[in-house]
Amino acid sequence: MTEHVPRTALVDRLDAAIRPRAAHVQRALASPVRNTRMAVVVGRVLGLAFVVCFLTGLYSHVLQSPLDGIVTPTRPEHLYGWTQGTHVVVGSMLLPLLLAKLWVVYPRLFRWPPLSGVLSALERGSVAVLVATALVLPVTGILNILEWYPWEFSFRRTHFALAWMLIGALALHIAVQLPAIRAHWRRDDGDVVDGGVRDD
Ligand code: HEM
Repeated sequence: MTEHVPRTALVDRLDAAIRPRAAHVQRALASPVRNTRMAVVVGRVLGLAFVVCFLTGLYSHVLQSPLDGIVTPTRPEHLYGWTQGTHVVVGSMLLPLLLAKLWVVYPRLFRWPPLSGVLSALERGSVAVLVATALVLPVTGILNILEWYPWEFSFRRTHFALAWMLIGALALHIAVQLPAIRAHWRRDDGDVVDGGVRDD
């Protein structure tokens, strides 16, 4: 007959089994360049690139779907060409920047325990939204440049909605990480812990 294990004992046993393995994964993935300072250095370029894409995309959107009472500048003559050119060039740079950022921080995916409470669950949920939208936006944008639409949904409407989700999740991410961002903004600031990302 199967032994009845009370829930708390089961959780304790799982915890005891996973904790050393998670610590082992953290040690195996540690790298001198995988640290909070690097997350900030890559993060601020990535954040700036997303904000540039958001603003130029917004401008393009209101030109195509004008809002009552809002006059959008159309001069100098090549303004739209410049803003759209910037949107496409910076948008195409997002993917390598994003991969670099994820390479720096992905060991945090394996930290244990994964959640420490309701707030941490909400925070990790918002990071999931951030990563998902940050991947889908440039990938679908690049497919749009190629005029290849292997999906049923409206590209323009979805791109616009995802952009708002991303900018909201990004603002939350920056707010949550603000103490770490401030501590590591300049080269000499803060301490790098064991050549790896913080494990809190
Ligand atoms: C679309 C843009 C971004 C994406 C997709 C992204 C993604 C991530 C992810 C997945 C994590 C790990 C979170 C966790 O497991 O708790 C993280 C951590 C972090 N991010 Fe971002 N991030 C972005 C933008 C930024 C920006 C703009 C900054 C600031 C300049 C920034 C600074 C940080 C910092 C300081 C950490 C913590 C690293 C550590 O504790 O060692 N990120 N980011």
